[in-house]
Amino acid sequence: MKPEYEYIIVGSGVAGLSVAAAAAKNGRRSLIITKSNLEESNTRYAQGGIAAAYAPTDSPSSHLKDTLVAGAGLSEPQAVKALTTEAPKRMDELIRLGMPFDRDARSGEISLGREGAHSANRILHAGGDATGKHLEHTLAQAVRGSEYIEKLEQYFATDLLQDGAGRVTGVKIQPEVAGGGSFEVYGRHVVLATGGAGQLYRYTTNPQLTTGDGMALAWRAGAALADMEFFQFHPTALNLPGAPSFLISEAMRGEGAILKNANGEAFMAKYDPRLELASRDVVARAIASELAATGKVFLDIRHLGKAELRHHFPSIYEFCLGYGLDISEDMIPVAPAAHYFMGGVLTGSWGETTLPGLYAVGEAAASGVHGANRLASNSLLEGLVFGQRLYDYTASGQAPALDLPAYRQTAEIPLTGYALPQPDLSVENEAGAATLEGVQGLMWEKVGLARIAAGLSEAFSTLDAWEKQPADGEGQDRAGRELANLVTVGRLVAGAALIREESRGAHYRLDFPTTREEWLRRIVLQKQH
Ligand code: SIN
Repeated sequence: MKPEYEYIIVGSGVAGLSVAAAAAKNGRRSLIITKSNLEESNTRYAQGGIAAAYAPTDSPSSHLKDTLVAGAGLSEPQAVKALTTEAPKRMDELIRLGMPFDRDARSGEISLGREGAHSANRILHAGGDATGKHLEHTLAQAVRGSEYIEKLEQYFATDLLQDGAGRVTGVKIQPEVAGGGSFEVYGRHVVLATGGAGQLYRYTTNPQLTTGDGMALAWRAGAALADMEFFQFHPTALNLPGAPSFLISEAMRGEGAILKNANGEAFMAKYDPRLELASRDVVARAIASELAATGKVFLDIRHLGKAELRHHFPSIYEFCLGYGLDISEDMIPVAPAAHYFMGGVLTGSWGETTLPGLYAVGEAAASGVHGANRLASNSLLEGLVFGQRLYDYTASGQAPALDLPAYRQTAEIPLTGYALPQPDLSVENEAGAATLEGVQGLMWEKVGLARIAAGLSEAFSTLDAWEKQPADGEGQDRAGRELANLVTVGRLVAGAALIREESRGAHYRLDFPTTREEWLRRIVLQKQH
């Protein structure tokens, strides 16, 4: 089938729109498919900004070092080098596109904030804590007027289409409108930019659309996935009865906010000398342990005062006020929540996957930049840098797939293929039907912040049984398709977490609480035919 489009891009967050903007600039015909509206994505809700060594006193090599330290030994250095070296260039480009980065009122220079585990002030923000909204809008504006870009909003990608040689040639899509039939679209390059899978968990900072769709699509088509055991829990989400787990940005701790337990005690010194700005896994586990011991944890930012809070954190201020909490007068009750998925479709450092014709970028991809734990504000950056790289790689038309055996030999961090564990078949009869609440509760309790073999095995076997239940394909509605994708991805998270018998980065095993030298390797999973 002759490709209709140069690029078919599934997803319209920062990663997808970056590919689309680069393609449009160069007159390449692209189709963006989104199950929602163009500007509705996880990107839109990002508060913390974009990390880049933009200050004269900072350097990409310092950004690289911080990113590698956060990744706990599992980041692919070549990918991190690309991320950190190309970051300032991408910021210049965004400024040209009209991105309204916050500037110092006196000097007019771009303000650079600080976040956890960064050794310099290098976080660019826009609209205080509304960076994602401004970024999404800036990129959407860049693609909206282009004659080279078509878009299909409210269309769900249900399958990848492959030719006899396994090359991905297009996507089967289903309109969300009742009664609309599915159809196929064909393109030279099919790009998965579908974001993460925060909806796997009962408590998450992610919006409802983060259901791991691209990872599930890629898995079903036979692409390799990697790093699936690494899910980052943000330490501070709002913890108010009746309110969602709204993100309380790490930038608040960058501005001196203090964590306190129910007894009013500032506790971080007990856990890490970096205090409130320790890495996210450390802070999240410290909060979980104080919650268990004292019942409540609060973030205290009252020292900043109302005017500054409204200026720097307008979204958080207004959101909390909507629930009767004035954060200039009251401390904010917080708890950890699922936030960012380091795992995804295995890619090389240009977005190429193990299937020819298929690419992945942004949170849907496991490009190796985040290793076992992502550094704050590196995710929007990944979408920007790797979106452009994906375009550069494919622009010539010659874009070979990732040759896994060859990549394994050249990768600086070993990539090792593992078979998924055997499910315990006795759970099959007891599992009942999958529900969203069932998946989220199971994942939160058994595959969450602290994990142990028995719980992981139970979760894996239950998800395996759910995955085997017959689905009614085209008859499914969006919620049914999303649930099926979550079950597939959740099973892989539980399986990989069971395989990794150590604690590293965001993956914490109660039964293997230390980091083990023999696990200095990435786990690659691939469907067995
Ligand atoms: C935050 O604002 O704390 C989130 C930033 C990020 O996840 O990088």
